[in-house]
Amino acid sequence: MHTGQQLYEGKAKVVFATPDPHVLVQSFKDDATAFNGQKKGSIPGKGSVNCRVSAALFRLLEANGVQTHFLRLLSDRDMLMRAVRIVPLEVVVRNRVAGSLAKRLGRPEGEAIPAGPVVELYYKDDSLGDPLVNESHVLAFGLADREALDAITALAHRVNAVLVPFFRGIGLDLVDFKLEFGRSLADGALLLADEISPDTCRLWDLATGERMDKDRFRRDLGGVEDAYQEVVGRVLAAAGSVE
Ligand code: C5P
Repeated sequence: MHTGQQLYEGKAKVVFATPDPHVLVQSFKDDATAFNGQKKGSIPGKGSVNCRVSAALFRLLEANGVQTHFLRLLSDRDMLMRAVRIVPLEVVVRNRVAGSLAKRLGRPEGEAIPAGPVVELYYKDDSLGDPLVNESHVLAFGLADREALDAITALAHRVNAVLVPFFRGIGLDLVDFKLEFGRSLADGALLLADEISPDTCRLWDLATGERMDKDRFRRDLGGVEDAYQEVVGRVLAAAGSVE
């Protein structure tokens, strides 16, 4: 499968070259890390779940006018994608208080955000632990220009507007999630990149309140594999499997 040269290995994915310099393979691993790599483990089947969930959500978003790097699935854990230069920002969209926002503002997890969603920007740098930044930092240090920042913010809201009702329809509350964007190497277009999966979203079961995402691993709640399998099952049943 991976005949091309390995270009990059991250915590959860490996990227390989293809004969076309504008097209890459993104391969999803079962390795799991949390707290910026301080906690390490493996979740059997996670790579396959995250690859198939991401593919289905990228397809759904493309159908709703959001351009993504996704081209097609090669296997249950490998996807063909457009090559991008990643914008060094992690864009977090929050519909409810949870995780680092709960800590930072001293508010209870699960609290509604009356005039939400909140969009936050983090500088993508593992050695710094991805610090929170504001628009002034982004512009002053040239992490993105005004036009890109406005486009990214608008896209983050659009993605949220598509995904919230989709997940609600499969009995899941989309509490928050992280997005990354990149510039197409082929034509400079701004594309949604990386992945959207139970690793990068908080998904709470609407009926039971159970966490169906990576918090089960981060917080040692047990039942991690089952939760991931439940999410992929519901997503594919609603979105259809993706070729
Ligand atoms: O930890 P925090 O509350 O800031 O995370 C917000 C959301 O962003 C969560 O859904 C989490 O899974 C996601 N996230 C991520 N990658 C990071 C940081 C957060 O996918 N490096």
